[in-house]
Amino acid sequence: MKKITTVGFLFAILLAVALGVHHLAFAQSGSYSPAWVPPTWSNALQSPILTTILNGQTPASIPRSAALPDPTGRIGSYQPGGATTTSKNAFFTSTLGTNQRTCFSCHQPQDGWTITPRTVQSIYLNSHGFDALFQPVDGSNCPDLGAAAPYFGSSFVAARSQLFNKANIRIFLPVPEVHDWVQLRVENDPYGCEKSVIYGVPAGFLSMYRRPLPSANLFFLDPAGTTVPAPPNPPFPPIPGLSGVSPEGTGFAIMWDSREPDLPTQFQDAVRIHAQATPAQIAALTSGAAPNDVQQGVSFQQGIFTAQSFDQRALDLTGGHDGSGATGGAAFLASLSCSDIINCLPVAPTFFGAPQFTLYPPTFFLGSGSERAQRASILRGQAMFNGGVTFIVNGVSGFNDVLGPNFQATCNTCHNVQNVGNNFVLPPLHTGIGDNSYLSPLQAPAGFPPLPPTPDLPLFGFLCPTGSIPFFSNQVTVNGATYDLFETTDPGTGLITGKCADLGKMKTPILRGLASRAPYFHGGNASSLQDLVNFYDQRFSIGLTPQQKTDLINFLNTL
Ligand code: HEC
Ligand code: HEC
Repeated sequence: MKKITTVGFLFAILLAVALGVHHLAFAQSGSYSPAWVPPTWSNALQSPILTTILNGQTPASIPRSAALPDPTGRIGSYQPGGATTTSKNAFFTSTLGTNQRTCFSCHQPQDGWTITPRTVQSIYLNSHGFDALFQPVDGSNCPDLGAAAPYFGSSFVAARSQLFNKANIRIFLPVPEVHDWVQLRVENDPYGCEKSVIYGVPAGFLSMYRRPLPSANLFFLDPAGTTVPAPPNPPFPPIPGLSGVSPEGTGFAIMWDSREPDLPTQFQDAVRIHAQATPAQIAALTSGAAPNDVQQGVSFQQGIFTAQSFDQRALDLTGGHDGSGATGGAAFLASLSCSDIINCLPVAPTFFGAPQFTLYPPTFFLGSGSERAQRASILRGQAMFNGGVTFIVNGVSGFNDVLGPNFQATCNTCHNVQNVGNNFVLPPLHTGIGDNSYLSPLQAPAGFPPLPPTPDLPLFGFLCPTGSIPFFSNQVTVNGATYDLFETTDPGTGLITGKCADLGKMKTPILRGLASRAPYFHGGNASSLQDLVNFYDQRFSIGLTPQQKTDLINFLNTL
């Protein structure tokens, strides 16, 4: 049994006081904004801004169709509605906020509309560090580190090690006033940000470091631009106990922790925080003539699709050049964006276990050259993903508490939107990445070691009522009372809802464009698809052979 001091209880009181002040000081107009927004926005405006900034490298136009090189081939972008002139769309506007940031600073086509370490490096070399990407607010590990460093050199890079190593962005969120943990401790503070009186716990904030999610294929996240019909309208039976912070009550979650209700709100909050916009600038986003800035940005994101189109070894993935019958690539993905997304989705009761990825038919194997062996491997990987390999899922909160223990699953049980790979059924899940849940005897298999917390990320300790975190037990005694101590590098949805039961929950992301956007998982926890597949193999005791792992990786690289 471990012993814990009472210092944390004092912290909790300080936290409550600090948060109360923030909420009073920054009242929000309008009712649409989530509760975390006012304090986070207010805090973003306190971060220093680098004033000498080059104007990014935004291209003049995003063509209707384009493919750019990535580590295993080419990643395509496709806009069914035609090319976008960047000077006429707010997604690319550097004057929405005060720090020259655009959405394009962190969402670029060669990285599947995210940003990756290799792009961060090349922007750094080309701009000598004078690019808005490097703004201290969330481009540095902590704003007070980034501001002091000179623009070009090792201290500038060291202050941004999360950005340079994993293309992680600092996400800072307030600790909710109402929460059911009795104590929150900072157990590792690698950059001093958690202790900072302006940016850290004393001011009511936690800083996490997260991968950008793709800003394309968003039709499949928020089809109508507003909301998906809430259950029971979708054609699947209501699932007992299904509830989530996503207003749809389904897996159409926006952001890793599902903290945004819809894309227009997300757009404005991104401008508030990443671009450090003033209240007047935020008001201007929706006040112009239609289409206003928010409408422009959201329709650009809903009208652009991204997917791998070419593989160095399997060659054409689209079927367009060799008649293989393959339907990889962004143009086919765009064709799935039927007017009513429900029609695109598999229908109950077969959605669990239905073949979700149908990109590569048996005829794909008909190549004659060296691509033949690679295509065979991709076909085997697709079949595995679709159910060719099954495994028992245990200990995943948000999943086993809804569907029952010892649930026999495949990859597509969770990644269930057809040919897209996000989860249209379940809100965020706790799969146990970057936390201490592998120590819990209630996990299966007990003691699995994959992807534990790493020292470059902060570690938070949550002292929760015993049994309040599903499938988790790690008992400690404090002042004679027993609690479960959950340690994590990122509390996920738990930091939004204040519930111990939601700690560590993250959404099931869209799986297209994977080859272009390593590293993977919310904190870049898996540096490659090999690491990622090893995680699944260990976490769920799948027992994959080296060949099966290779097949699965080859398939994932073609998405
Ligand atoms: C400084 C980098 C940065 C900038 C600038 C930025 N984003 Fe992001 N974006 C991120 C990160 C990091 C996440 C994931 C954060 C999380 O989940 O907590 C994200 C997530 C998103 C998502 C969620 C996608 C999903 O699958 O849930 C959308 C949509 C998005 N951004 C759009 C935008 C738009 C629109 C803008 C411009 C107004 C913008 N971003 C500016 C880094 C950035
Ligand atoms: C129990 C539900 C579940 C199952 C089963 C599952 N996944 Fe996932 N998957 C998730 C969740 C949740 C995440 C996000 C986890 C995180 O980042 O914290 C994820 C993330 C991923 C990612 C990373 C995407 C990115 O953008 O970083 C890949 C790739 C992936 N899964 C592939 C697979 C494969 C392959 C399998 C089968 C071996 C599989 N998944 C089985 C729920 C699941």
